[in-house]
This record gives sequence, structure tokens and C-alpha cells, in this order.
Amino acid sequence: LENGLLRKPPMGWLAWERFRCNIDCDKDPKNCISERLFMEMADRLAQDGWRDLGYVYLNIDDCWIGGRDAKGNLLPDPKRFPHGIAFLADYAHSLGLKLGIYEDLGNFTCMGFPGTTLDKVVQDAQTFAEWKVDMLKLDGCFSTHKERAEGYPKMAAALNATGRPIAFSCSWPAYEGGLPPRVNYSLLADICNLWRNYDDIQDSWQSVLSILDWFVAHQDILQPAAGPGHWNDPDMLLIGNFGLSFEQAQSQMALWTVLAAPLFMSTDLRTISAQNMDILQNPLMIKINQDPLGIQGRRILKEKSFIEVFLRPLANEASALVFFSRRTDMPYHYLCSLGRLNFTRSRVYEAQNVYTGDIIRGLQVTTNFTVTVNPSGVVMWYLYPIKNLGTPQQ
Ligand code: DGJ
Repeated sequence: LENGLLRKPPMGWLAWERFRCNIDCDKDPKNCISERLFMEMADRLAQDGWRDLGYVYLNIDDCWIGGRDAKGNLLPDPKRFPHGIAFLADYAHSLGLKLGIYEDLGNFTCMGFPGTTLDKVVQDAQTFAEWKVDMLKLDGCFSTHKERAEGYPKMAAALNATGRPIAFSCSWPAYEGGLPPRVNYSLLADICNLWRNYDDIQDSWQSVLSILDWFVAHQDILQPAAGPGHWNDPDMLLIGNFGLSFEQAQSQMALWTVLAAPLFMSTDLRTISAQNMDILQNPLMIKINQDPLGIQGRRILKEKSFIEVFLRPLANEASALVFFSRRTDMPYHYLCSLGRLNFTRSRVYEAQNVYTGDIIRGLQVTTNFTVTVNPSGVVMWYLYPIKNLGTPQQ
């Protein structure tokens, strides 16, 4: 969507995967969906280095809505959001953050809270703009195919008409099976800044793999759809939660980055470990995710059924390479060369290992190298040319 927003994949925090629809603030005041939770996450984003690295979105998901007033205007749950959403937006803005909100194009949200029907779309867009909201995720539970076909473009127009820049996250394709002919990716790129293509992520490695496999299987369709202002969204990062090992957490971060995915953490930033923070706050990783060309990477090679190589082209003729192992036994020593990865130019390259910082020098297309990839882990390289060798360039 050419509204000037999200020229790079959005980064921030989204409540859903970790905090779900916990609305029992009496029993669980620290973790229930309430203004306290969002204010505490805002504090962490601002104070623990996240915001300064680009993690600026603080996004509310399902279960915040209390109902509508006599005029039909949306209201937050009065007990859990006593100061209202405008107050939360002000709080986020005062810390240099942006506030995202959620609603659903159907009679109910997925968790059964009031939805927005076609006749309410314009009114709700105006409400969000009045509250100074910066992003809207429009979910699709309890909507029909026809309502979505009308409602998503209608909301895009309504947000635009408010005059406030509001990034638009569309769950539309996820409710249409994610593929043409039911999904029109060029239309999505016109009306949405990002869109969920596929199933919800759950807190397990199996869930990460099923999403990855689907994205790879359909990369010829999905990859060209992404670019500055319009991104595929494979869903939230699980890093810091319960389901991934250290290697798997590194793998999700590397693979999402190479896919030019939004980086929405969904974890408890009040208790996250230093090790998981290091994965999420890796400056070179973030630089790659936020590369100005905004080209989504692809899986370029699969070998022996368990080694996969992903490549994302970056600015200044650099590339991100991810060597990913599906083995479940022991580290695998993978012998490779740039030539094998379809590099053809007579150049000398250097690579920086994104997680260890090690520099690998003097790589030419024929140079053999070995990367040691741990089970369900990755080795990730930032690769860049050093000099031409003087032979004619291809
Ligand atoms: C389905 C969405 O895909 C999830 O990300 C989350 O927003 C839930 N609905 C909330 O009910």
C-alpha cells in the first residue's frame, strides 16, 4: 500500500501469541489483556534497547473490545482499559513508540468480542484515527468470502480518508487459503501494508516448520508479492517463549529475516533472558531484515533432504545466506561453494557470520568452504563483494 508507511518490514511487539485472550485480571493482573500489560511492555520497549533498534510498534490484538456506545462507537473493556485507547496511544507516543490495534470483519472477533460489520467500517476507521492509532490488524473470523472482498478494500479506503497515516495489516489471504485464484496478491499490495498468508503460529518448532514449508512451497507466488510498503507476514516470533530451543530460536529469527518478514515479538519482555535478547537485538540481523531494497529471499537449494540454503539479495550487492539443517542427530559439516549457490561473477567476497561475528575472507566462486550447522539450527552469513578480479563481468 503506497501510503508512505512500512517501507521496511514493521518491527515491534504484538500481544497475541504469548498473552492470548487472558482476561482474568483478578487472578492474573500482570498478564491479562489490559492497559497495564501494554504500558509495561511499552516501558520495556523504550528502556531495554528495543525501540532504538527499530522495535517501535506496540500492538493490541483480540479481546480488548468492551462494546459500542449509543452512537455505535467502539469502546474498550472499561475494567481492563479504564483510561481508554487514546490514553494508551499517547503513552506509546510519549515513549517514541507507535500503537497498533485489532478488530475483526465479522459479527464477532475470533474470541467472540464485538466485530465490525460492513456498515461500521468507516465509523471504526474514524474512531481509530481519533484515538491516534498507528496500525490496524483486521482479522477475518465470522466473515464470508463476499464480506471480505468488500470489507478489506473498504477499510483501506476508510483509513486513507481519515488523513491519519495508519498502517494496514490484512488477515484476508489467510481466510482464503493464501493462494490464487482466491487471493489476488497485486490487489493486496495495493490496499494493505502487510498480510497474514497462512495459519496462526503456535508455540512449537513444528508450527514454525509448517509455516516455513508452506512459504517455501509457494515462494514463486509469495516472493514477488512482497516489497517496500507491502509484506507477507508469516506471523509472530516465538523467541523468548516455551516451545523453541536456542538453536530453533536462532533459526526462526534468521529465516524470518531472510523472508523479509515483519518482526513482531510476542513474548514477555519483562522476563526475557539475555540469550534471547541477543537473538532479537542482533544489529546485523536487523540491518538485513530492514534492508532498503525490501526483496524477500527464497530457498535456493535443498540437499540430501536435510540441508536447505536460503538467499536474500541486499543493497550494495550484498546477500544474506542462511544454511539451515533439519537433522535431529548431530551437527552437520556442509561442504559448499558460492559457485554451487549460483554465484558466477569473478569476484572476491567476504562474509560475516551474523551470530558469531566471525569474518570469512577470500571467497571466490570456486572456493570450497564448510559450515557446521547444528540440528534444527542455522548458520547465517552477510556476504558482500570485496573487489573484482579484473576478468570480464557477467
Ligand atoms: C486469528 C489471528 O490469525 C491471530 O493472529 C489472532 O489475531 C487471533 N485470531 C485472535 O483471536
